[in-house]
Amino acid sequence: MNKPRHFISLLDLSSVEIRALIQRAISLKNARNPDFQPLKGQVLGMIFEKSSTRTRISFETGMTNFGGSAIFLSPRDTQLGRGEPIKDSARVISSMVDAIMLRTNDHATVTEFAEHSSVPVINGLTDLLHPCQLLADMQTYFEHRGDIQGKTVTWIGDGNNMCHSYINAAIQLDFNLRIACPDGYSPNADMLKSAGDRVQMFASANEAANGSDLIVTDVWASMGQEEEQKLRERAFEDYQVTQTVMNHAHADALFMHCLPAHRGEEVAAEVIDGQHSVIYAEAENRLHAQKALLELLMCA
Ligand code: CP
Ligand code: NVA
Repeated sequence: MNKPRHFISLLDLSSVEIRALIQRAISLKNARNPDFQPLKGQVLGMIFEKSSTRTRISFETGMTNFGGSAIFLSPRDTQLGRGEPIKDSARVISSMVDAIMLRTNDHATVTEFAEHSSVPVINGLTDLLHPCQLLADMQTYFEHRGDIQGKTVTWIGDGNNMCHSYINAAIQLDFNLRIACPDGYSPNADMLKSAGDRVQMFASANEAANGSDLIVTDVWASMGQEEEQKLRERAFEDYQVTQTVMNHAHADALFMHCLPAHRGEEVAAEVIDGQHSVIYAEAENRLHAQKALLELLMCA
């Protein structure tokens, strides 16, 4: 079996490739050329174990824009949900489509699937990582402020899949990352260690926001943690991104959130709907960044 190129983590691309991909995403966005159809006749399989608005629409639209198509597969109505081994599913599905995107609960499902897939596998979110979102976030930063190298980014809230992908982005694009999480909700210790001095932990949101160029947060309870919502609301009450927190950052700091958001929980409405927020550009850039990714993985 040939060894395809996968995108499971930002660490699967080099820093040079990530920067090139961001520039390519910006060009695709600006050109909007309907005659450019590099994936004509190609098919993306999309497996969703969890809900999605942005990821599903952006991949499906991206494939259609490029002259291809996408198939939505849910474990609820395929054999995936009835215990068919991941290896068999990967061998069979990859024999019929040209690339596969997965959104799964366990990160290991994506890595095992990729091991047995004969076509590129893309991580559309797991409990550990959300690398596609980071491509869009970084594109958004580059568009608004230029290269992020040497800048300071602040993550406030849960040390979750998004936080982990920010740690990887800090490594790959060489920025400083200041993280504030409540006790017991810190990011994966090995990942933190792998980033060295670039990533620092702070006890308070205000302290972490000092001198920042970009403030980012995410929901307090991710998909699959719904039953912890009440517990988490108490644990995270001092970790809302408020205007006071934003005032600790640079005057031109941006605010990002991968969405969906809960106004009044992880972020105050005046911040997410305020002048520093770039959430809608960030969401739209999922389409453009992933088109650049599909081109990189499928047209090689
Ligand atoms: N940000 C993001 O991945 O959104 P969806 O869950 O709607 O795909
Ligand atoms: N951390 C969130 C991100 C949603 C896009 C989750 O995993 O539910």
